Amino acid sequence: MPTYAFWNNKGGVGKSYLTFQVACEYALQHPDQNILVIDACPQANASSMLLGGIDAGDQALDRFSTQSPLRTISGYVEDRIRSPYVNPRTGSSYAYQVNQLNRLVPSNLYLVVGDEQLEIQASRVVGATVPGPQDAWRIVHQWFSDLIADVMSSWNNHPATVFLDCNPSFTIYTELAMSAADRLIVPFTADGSSKRAVRTLLSLLYGVQRNPGAQQSTFYLNSNVFRMTVPNIYSYVGNRLTQNLGPASAFRTVVNEIGDEIHRIWQANPSRFAIHPVGAQPPRSATEFRRMFQAQIKDANTASVVSSALGIPLRKLTAGPKQLAGRTVPINQTQLDRLQPNIRDFVQTIE
Ligand SMILES: Nc1ncnc2c1ncn2[C@@H]1O[C@H](COP(=O)(O)OP(=O)(O)OP(=O)(O)O)[C@@H](O)[C@H]1O
Ligand SMILES: [Mg+2]
Repeated sequence: MPTYAFWNNKGGVGKSYLTFQVACEYALQHPDQNILVIDACPQANASSMLLGGIDAGDQALDRFSTQSPLRTISGYVEDRIRSPYVNPRTGSSYAYQVNQLNRLVPSNLYLVVGDEQLEIQASRVVGATVPGPQDAWRIVHQWFSDLIADVMSSWNNHPATVFLDCNPSFTIYTELAMSAADRLIVPFTADGSSKRAVRTLLSLLYGVQRNPGAQQSTFYLNSNVFRMTVPNIYSYVGNRLTQNLGPASAFRTVVNEIGDEIHRIWQANPSRFAIHPVGAQPPRSATEFRRMFQAQIKDANTASVVSSALGIPLRKLTAGPKQLAGRTVPINQTQLDRLQPNIRDFVQTIE
């Protein structure tokens, strides 16, 4: 079952927004599957959107994180801190059918709810990788895979797809998410620092160094030692690149530079990319490369604000006035006609 992680070491590029939009759209396009979203970020932004947005979603998050026993990702992590090396097989009780709270989310979408306590648990998770059996690091890095396996087995291995939203920083819970994922979707925005950021994951995940002799990440070293899988790059998603894209604009120059950088990454590391659809030939030109590995998601402006704040997936958003924090915000059809096919077409490229 394909497991996609949304990750970029850079913050604020749209990982959570895309997790929300893509998972909902994917669930609509694949009614025959179950979709599992795991919110591996303590900010829990994807959970908040899925559960209904800034009011309903945040209230739901508060309820989830104060319930006893805890029914969030932190509840599962707590189970594992208690039993780090023997799988307690409790994962399935953490997948929540989102539609029970937010009717606009398809009923085949399930969520392991994010929780800010993940941050506090992080040091104890790191602690579990050190003592214990010789392969403690490997076993701990399988926790999220175990969680997914528990949910899949409770679904009697019904066809499913998994999406993980990740925190930007390469902390222990991001490492656990990387070990659980087999495909990586890397959103980026068009600014100077994104050019560097699209490369950072290469050193953190694959040990590809910018400067020879630089220190390697423990994640890379141990993934090798324990022969753990590391996700391959499925797609670089230029998010919100559509402003000011006149051919001579500074913005266009930055976008082009980032595009070239991504192409160079491919040329030097083709084995780190997930050729798709499965069975396709590797790209033979820059154009073919772009078609397979690069996508663009438009800036949704007010529609994104309404969609996120009210927990309405873009496809379910309708034209007309919307009530947002006591104000009326108009959504027009022209906007939707531009945005809905954009997200639909991107999701169609996800197997
Ligand atoms: N395509 C888009 N159109 C309009 N707004 C967007 C789009 N993508 C993201 N945003 C907005 O940009 C902001 C940052 O997005 P988001 O929170 O998803 O980033 P992130 O990468 O998850 O951030 P973090 O690194 O903090 O987890 C949010 O307010 C989100 O609603
Ligand atoms: Mg986020």
